[in-house]
Amino acid sequence: MSETKRRPRGFRSKGSETWSEERAEVLGAVRHQKHILPGTKVGNLRTPALLVNLDSLESNLTRMASFFRDRPAKLRPHFKAHQVLELACRQIQAGAAGLTCARLCQAEALADHGVRDVLIANEIAGRDMIEHFGDLSRRTPVIVAVDNASVVSDMAKMAGGHVHELNVVVDLDVRLGRCGVLPGEAALSLTKLVLSKGLRFRGLMGYEGHIPLPPGPEKQRVVHDALRRLTDTKTLIEREGIPVEVVSCGGTSDFSIAATFPAITEVQAGSYLLMDTWYEPFAPEFTPTLTVLATVISKTPGERVVADAGTKAMNTGNGPPQIKGIPGLRTTALHVEHALLEIEDASVSVEVGDRIEFWVNCLEPTLSLHSCIYGIRNSEVEEVFQIAR
Ligand SMILES: Cc1ncc(COP(=O)(O)O)c(C=O)c1O
Repeated sequence: MSETKRRPRGFRSKGSETWSEERAEVLGAVRHQKHILPGTKVGNLRTPALLVNLDSLESNLTRMASFFRDRPAKLRPHFKAHQVLELACRQIQAGAAGLTCARLCQAEALADHGVRDVLIANEIAGRDMIEHFGDLSRRTPVIVAVDNASVVSDMAKMAGGHVHELNVVVDLDVRLGRCGVLPGEAALSLTKLVLSKGLRFRGLMGYEGHIPLPPGPEKQRVVHDALRRLTDTKTLIEREGIPVEVVSCGGTSDFSIAATFPAITEVQAGSYLLMDTWYEPFAPEFTPTLTVLATVISKTPGERVVADAGTKAMNTGNGPPQIKGIPGLRTTALHVEHALLEIEDASVSVEVGDRIEFWVNCLEPTLSLHSCIYGIRNSEVEEVFQIAR
């Protein structure tokens, strides 16, 4: 019998990978490379690989934490902007009051990892999800956003005697035109329904969205308009004698405006930690940290080089990614497994086999293409962060 035929299914006789991992790599996600130890040189990583500059990450973490230290409004960072449980814990250690997330499974992962105070800043619907939320709520007081009367009624019906364990915030559409009830009377009426059904009303949230404006009076005006809708609704509800403990909003582009707006209790900024190059002009306090490492696999002298990182390793929703530290090279196209780079400056020295790095310019969709992030300091891997799904 040949060596191949004798192999147990799923394993190689030698080497570190299983066949199933190899298949997974072929099919999609860029997989974690086994046996990457601290001290491994960046040049020895298989490409493509997602890298985070640890000095920049730590500086972003500290900068945001220092801003919130001693302020009445707290930071509740959004988990989806990194999806790394270890980084969530570092945000808590740095002073965050809890975590925000978008999905029940993320809330569960965070709770299981010891994060006590989790807000799902998103709606849930359907029997399975509501049951799942009920089960999770019995273990830990996770808060979920609601914007629909039927969902509220279903939650109450399905929770039965445990209804008071379900924590909700009423979600307002303050600017984005996505989820949320209208501010004002519609929000008041949903709040009253929440209370009449016996759920625990914790307060309000309203996400104003990324504000693609540089710091200045115009941005301040746009954010204030949105936040006024949120806080005016808080006043309306309180006038009815209903306490509003939480007023949650804000992102990386407007964290300082949101945190200093009267009556806002917490800010959900998330992108600040890893940052991408698209977002940087709108939140210049923070530094982009992520690059995709690739290898040059082909060169047509005087014209172009090709690298082994395409759309399976980088999302291009915000345009072609820039190359770190090599000004004479320009990304012209990404194919599934290839990046095409024009040699704009003939004096650029780049050869087949060289490593190059692309700046990540579309954070969350790029994270979803990878299973881990290599934490780099001084050109060596210092730690490996697993990306939770
Ligand atoms: C509801 C909600 N809150 C907070 C955030 C975080 O915003 P930012 O990416 O600006 O940090 C997002 C991001 O999309 C969001 O959808």
